[in-house]
Amino acid sequence: MNPQWSSVPDPSPSPKLVIDASGIEKSFGDGSSRIHVLKNVNFQAYIGEIMMLVGPSGCGKTTLLSAIAGTMGVDGGDIIVFDNELGKMSGAALTRFRAKNIGFIFQQFNLIPTLTVAENVSVPLLIQGLAGGKALKRSREALEKVGLGQRWKERPNKLSGGEQQRVAIARALVHDPPLVICDEPTAALDAKNGEIVLDLFSQVARSPGRAVIIVTHDNRIFSYADRISHMDDGEIVEVTKQSRTTPPHFEHEHTIALTP
Ligand SMILES: Nc1ncnc2c1ncn2[C@@H]1O[C@H](COP(=O)(O)OP(=O)(O)O)[C@@H](O)[C@H]1O
Ligand SMILES: [Mg+2]
Repeated sequence: MNPQWSSVPDPSPSPKLVIDASGIEKSFGDGSSRIHVLKNVNFQAYIGEIMMLVGPSGCGKTTLLSAIAGTMGVDGGDIIVFDNELGKMSGAALTRFRAKNIGFIFQQFNLIPTLTVAENVSVPLLIQGLAGGKALKRSREALEKVGLGQRWKERPNKLSGGEQQRVAIARALVHDPPLVICDEPTAALDAKNGEIVLDLFSQVARSPGRAVIIVTHDNRIFSYADRISHMDDGEIVEVTKQSRTTPPHFEHEHTIALTP
């Protein structure tokens, strides 16, 4: 054995990958209007972490999230989520897989205007077959957690942008999905509500078998990240690590620069 290796302790068990996306390619449009949005993107996230994806507007963050969440097909590469390769799943299997495993908070909230706030939050539970009464009870509990317990009977258009965003967050968390994916979750929130929401995401990420992916350019929340993937012009240019909130399995990792 090479003597310089003898003092290196046994490696700890490798952290488990939640998302392993490699070589992702995506273009929109045809001919001269074709734009190449994701360029050989590699993106990994592990159990137990909050991974943030940051980068300038238009660099491809939402496109990458949609690919990872299986809501948009890609032109090339593999996306493996909890050991399932999304590209090999049928449409129906993918829909079931997403409903069970992924809580997605869209940049535009996507609330259903004709339903009450609590009914909106119930949707993932009803899709899973939970009875209406039970679903409503759990929805109200989820709304309590984002500070909207009193507003459950109202329609979304009676709520401010920040309140609607918190409803979308309650809906993404209500069925306790192991993977929570959020696109700019704090864009419409003031500091206090941003903190409430990030504390919720932290609790999710620290629960067994869970991970949270957040697209953001809100530097108030960077300190909640375990790692940050920096994206620019369709590429991940660097992955950095935060030390303050780092979970134990990243203890020995150092900042990783993927490009010089
Ligand atoms: N469905 C689409 N059709 C055509 N172009 C799109 C579509 N979605 C995104 N784009 C383009 O892809 C690029 C990246 O968009 P997006 O992923 O939304 O960026 P970000 O979330 O980083 O702001 C932008 O130029 C955007 O206009
Ligand atoms: Mg976006």
